[in-house]
Parts: sequence; C-alpha cells; structure tokens
Amino acid sequence: MTTERTRNLLVLNGPNLNLLGTREPAVYGTDTLDDVEAAAVGAAESHGWTADCIQSNHEGDLIDAIHGAPGLADAIIINPAAYSHTSVAIRDALSGVGLPVVEVHLSNIHKREEFRHHSFVSAVAEVVICGAGIAGYRMAVDYIAAKLDAAAGSATR
Ligand code: DQA
Repeated sequence: MTTERTRNLLVLNGPNLNLLGTREPAVYGTDTLDDVEAAAVGAAESHGWTADCIQSNHEGDLIDAIHGAPGLADAIIINPAAYSHTSVAIRDALSGVGLPVVEVHLSNIHKREEFRHHSFVSAVAEVVICGAGIAGYRMAVDYIAAKLDAAAGSATR
C-alpha cells in the first residue's frame, strides 16, 4: 500500500509585503502578512490540504524557494509584489519547475500606475487574481484545490 502525502501548497510573498497592515493602507488595506498567510492556510485546511508560507524581500530567496517546491508542493501561489514588473528570473524559475502557478495581487494593478500593468509572471500563471485583497489568496487556494482534487478523482475512476 502506498501512503500519499497530504497535498501541499507553497504560498510565496515578495518584497515589502512584510509591511502589510501599515504599508499604504488605502491601497493594500489593513490586513497584515500574518492575516494573509492565515487566510491561505485556513483555506488550504478547509480542503484537507496544507500550505507552507514564505515571504522574502530578496529575489534569489524567492527563486530558491521555487526551485525547492517540486516534491514538497503541488502548486505555487505567488504574489511577486514589485518583482512582478521586473523579474524575468522569477518567471523563468516558475516555468522551470513546471508546477501550476496562481499569481495574486492584493490591489488591482491595472487601475494603478502604468509600470504595474505588465507582470512577467502572468505568462506562466494559470490564473491571475488581482484587486480582491486578502480574499484573492483564498480564491487562489480554492481554484488549485478544486482543480487538482478533480484531476486526482478522475485519474482514479
Ligand atoms: C502588489 C502590486 C505590486 O505592483 C506592488 O509592487 C506590490 C504589491 C499587490 O499585491 O497589489 O508590492 O503585488
């Protein structure tokens, strides 16, 4: 008999998101990073999944976390923050590991300054959620869990 591990998500948050709660509350709301991570973990648990959350202000640390995901995580939820708009390296890391990716932004980047309208990550994400605040993380978890649980169910039928 094989024992399957519980399905797990890697939830990555990029630079300056550690300041959530006090950072530009008119744009990002008053939820803290702890609130965001608790929302993602709670949503994962509601599906019988687990979630590992990492926040970093350093591009290389985010890339290392992405490289470490295969075997530990079934999908990646990422708010690359400002690196969305600059980082080919994070985009390449995500496409390199080949796990399903959901990109989340708290704010609606398309309603903001023009330099935020383009994200290098979007081209390698299955789904992009922006402007829903903390709820966007729950939506991302719900999407991934529904999709991968359905795929697993149809594979065993
Ligand atoms: C953000 C949007 C980015 O443009 C910005 O640099 C961030 C946060 C968001 O969640 O709305 O740091 O990713």
